[in-house]
Amino acid sequence: MELGLKGKSIVITGGTRGIGRAAAEAFLREGASVVIGARNMKELEETAETLGQYGRIIPFQFDALDTGSFYALADFAYSSLGSVDVWVNNVGASHPKSAGDEYTADDVRWTEAMCFESALFGSQAAARYMKEKGGAIINISSLAARVGTAGRSTIYGPLKAAVRLLSSNLAAEYAAYGIRVNCVMPGFTMTETVARSVSDSDKALVAERTLIRRMARPEEIAYPIVFLASDKASYITGTTLEVSGGRDVVLNPMYSYEKSGML
Ligand SMILES: NC(=O)c1ccc[n+]([C@@H]2O[C@H](COP(=O)([O-])OP(=O)(O)OC[C@H]3O[C@@H](n4cnc5c(N)ncnc54)[C@H](OP(=O)(O)O)[C@@H]3O)[C@@H](O)[C@H]2O)c1
Repeated sequence: MELGLKGKSIVITGGTRGIGRAAAEAFLREGASVVIGARNMKELEETAETLGQYGRIIPFQFDALDTGSFYALADFAYSSLGSVDVWVNNVGASHPKSAGDEYTADDVRWTEAMCFESALFGSQAAARYMKEKGGAIINISSLAARVGTAGRSTIYGPLKAAVRLLSSNLAAEYAAYGIRVNCVMPGFTMTETVARSVSDSDKALVAERTLIRRMARPEEIAYPIVFLASDKASYITGTTLEVSGGRDVVLNPMYSYEKSGML
């Protein structure tokens, strides 16, 4: 299927690892040009060099905790590529506190900036360059926005839920300009960072509670992002696409496995 992304200009925040990097590769494979933003310049350059085999990719150093950085990233992408057609607000993180620890006001502010402000300011920076000829913005939320999870997600989940509603509100703000805004809600995804910390009991829990009995591979989140950004999704805006392998959607997720004797 031709997605119509050839020659399009894409910006991805946090494009050097995990879901963002997989999305960068997927967009490049569709013939788009990509600007990736992150803090670590060495990693940015290595990523651009490795993914450069698939197409034009340009690194830009930016810090999502600095609001002005989003506008600098947009200015850079526009001056390098001549347009900003798609913007993926991928930066986001849970606060690395252990379950049961108290959160401080600074912890909350950091998580809010990483998750919510990064989606808001990234979208606003993108819209500056999309208002003339339209575009697509994709915000990355989390399954933690739909199902409560205590511990590391205690404040992350509610802030990711805010990203979902922000996406609908911005879809309304920008509809008249031909800018579609959607949200992708990934489940547990086996990124390099997750692979370093995931325990066997985490994996067992995912297998027990997920219709597709495993964690996602980063490219399985990347392609839904690419689809929503493409012309083939031209009638989709203001919505959230859950990509969780069917995690916690029914009370008896192992039903068909048990019936078929596969468990
Ligand atoms: N992995 C999962 O299981 C999962 C599940 C649901 C939702 N999500 C969401 O999916 C998104 C991507 O997650 P991921 O797991 O793929 O992330 P990841 O592997 O940890 O990669 C994070 C990326 O963001 C960049 N980054 C981090 N802090 C930054 C900052 N302050 N300014 C600019 N760039 C920054 C990192 O590069 P630098 O460190 O060099 O800046 C890196 O490129 C996040 O919004 C996350 O909440 C992930």
